[in-house]
Amino acid sequence: MTDAPPLPAVQTSGLSRNYGNFTALSGLNLTVNQGDLFGFIGSNGAGKTTTLRILSTFLTPSAGAAIIFGHDVVREADAVRHVIGYMPDFFGVYKDMEVTEYLDFFGACYRIPTAKREKTVSDVLELVGLSEKKGSLIGALSRGMQQRLGLARVLIHDPRLLLLDEPASGLDPRARIEMMEILRELQRLGKTIIISSHILSELETICNRVCIIERGQLIYSGPVQGVRDQVSSGKVVWARVASDQDKAIELLKTNPLIAEVSAVDHEIKVTLATEQTDHSLVADVLVRGGAKLIELREDEIGLEEVFMRVTKGETQ
Ligand SMILES: Nc1ncnc2c1ncn2[C@@H]1O[C@H](COP(=O)(O)OP(=O)(O)OP(=O)(O)O)[C@@H](O)[C@H]1O
Ligand SMILES: [Mg+2]
Repeated sequence: MTDAPPLPAVQTSGLSRNYGNFTALSGLNLTVNQGDLFGFIGSNGAGKTTTLRILSTFLTPSAGAAIIFGHDVVREADAVRHVIGYMPDFFGVYKDMEVTEYLDFFGACYRIPTAKREKTVSDVLELVGLSEKKGSLIGALSRGMQQRLGLARVLIHDPRLLLLDEPASGLDPRARIEMMEILRELQRLGKTIIISSHILSELETICNRVCIIERGQLIYSGPVQGVRDQVSSGKVVWARVASDQDKAIELLKTNPLIAEVSAVDHEIKVTLATEQTDHSLVADVLVRGGAKLIELREDEIGLEEVFMRVTKGETQ
């Protein structure tokens, strides 16, 4: 007999939420597996916070269900709260408290025994790289450090699933990278993590799976690479010619292996019809047609561009 597959960390079916007669989330079917570092991508107003608030039991769905490690978020909200750590997009910190006091307070809220609390607090501080600041007043921490403290707070009861709503927003590039490194480490420690963002390049490198939502609807869910395949039929090649760019564009447009040609400033953007077509085709067409090619480079479609194509920039 084979072992039963492990429970998904999160499974939603037909999950919907209305605010009055406005539908913010519509029929979301999503599976997040245990151990995933899952990117939850959407532009402003797409429904990310609404979804994360439902998963963290703060908001009830209007229809559908969400199951977290086998527990229903509505009927078994208490059980769900024990296995999740939710970091909202905006959270207040008590600026006059010391870092350790603050975490100790939340440890007490989760009924961690006093004897065990000191070690727990020191462990989570170490995880988020704040050990040196344990005696500091929270108000004296930088923004990035306060975000990391927020993360330490949701780790205090050792949850299996972290729901992080734009944890890197407002951070400078270095603080962002540090935050992402901490998330990687947490994944290595066996946590399942859902992180929302509209900054895609940072999720592309760390997440093993992503979903894209737009106007409350799921557009894509799966591996990062798959999102590209879904929207890109072929490779993109950039060409630069010495003169007469318009003529070069016309030449390229006549070739059946070339799907799309357009001018972007002083470069020509060429989308090949298939992934198999070699980019040297572009050089051949141009040189044979008498154009003076000065530069040719191939680029992979960035997740940012994929996102723009998939969502068409729609926000609400
Ligand atoms: N309490 C509310 N009452 C009415 N409408 C709401 C409420 N909360 C959210 N909405 C609407 O629901 C939609 C989804 O909002 P949500 O906050 O989930 O989006 P988001 O993806 O988190 O956006 P952002 O990137 O700006 O944080 C938006 O159109 C928003 O205006
Ligand atoms: Mg939000």
